[in-house]
Amino acid sequence: MAKSKAEKSSSTARREFVLSETTPFAIKEAYKTARTNLVFSLASSDAKIVVVSSCAPSEGKSTNCLNLAIAMAETGASVLLIDSDLRKPVQHTMLLLENKTGLSTLLAGISDDFSEIVNKDVYPKLDVLTSGSIPPNPAELIQSARMDKLLENVGKHYDYIFIDTPPVNVVTDALLYSGRVSGIVFIVRENHTTHVEINEAMKKASMTNAKILGFLKVGCSAGEKMGTGYKYKYKYKYNYYKYKDYSTTDHSDARSS
Ligand SMILES: Nc1ncnc2c1ncn2[C@@H]1O[C@H](COP(=O)(O)OP(=O)(O)OP(=O)(O)O)[C@@H](O)[C@H]1O
Ligand SMILES: [Mg+2]
Repeated sequence: MAKSKAEKSSSTARREFVLSETTPFAIKEAYKTARTNLVFSLASSDAKIVVVSSCAPSEGKSTNCLNLAIAMAETGASVLLIDSDLRKPVQHTMLLLENKTGLSTLLAGISDDFSEIVNKDVYPKLDVLTSGSIPPNPAELIQSARMDKLLENVGKHYDYIFIDTPPVNVVTDALLYSGRVSGIVFIVRENHTTHVEINEAMKKASMTNAKILGFLKVGCSAGEKMGTGYKYKYKYKYNYYKYKDYSTTDHSDARSS
């Protein structure tokens, strides 16, 4: 079915931050650095399955989950992106894909034909499993034996799998993957994510023994100059992070500042 004008403009806006040929060199390089660090932190895992999440809504999880998947596929590795935000899915909007079937179709047992439902070669070497229809019971579906089976099967087939999820301080979905995947990459957005939120998310993560693979800091200050003289707006950092309890520290740089 043809997309409406509103759908098209929403997906155009969302694609603004998605890696493409026109993405500034500095940003592409920053994603390559993030990719390298991620490859190192996954070295000891058999199936390389990465959950991408953040503390709060709208911090850039979905955009950066897609960008990490694109950056990884550019190395020639086979990559699968799963939209497991079964509450507010957007991967199909960013990628202009149909979403009548997807993850929820498989988890609900409506179909077990993964190869029929997955979108193949959305980018070279990158397949995408969209969310499918929004179900009434996302957490239950993510916890299900069908999800275990799916992770086992795709883990054998792909070199890397990236899973987009909702924020951990809002719903439990991302942490339901603890113990079933290699770990979580947390998106942290400058002037948006607060220390209090990070602290709360880390406490939740540690209660489920989630492995934190790293933090990807996005939306950094505008106007920095590169050696090329190119002015770029967004800078991306990927840091290994040793958890520190911030609950007693100064929060003056928090969102309101
Ligand atoms: N680096 C960035 N700088 C500024 N805006 C961004 C950046 N990355 C994404 N955005 C924009 O922020 C909005 C939220 O992005 P995105 O959907 O990726 O976040 P999210 O954390 O997945 O949100 P949700 O919690 O609703 O799932 C989108 O409009 C997106 O285009
Ligand atoms: Mg999202």
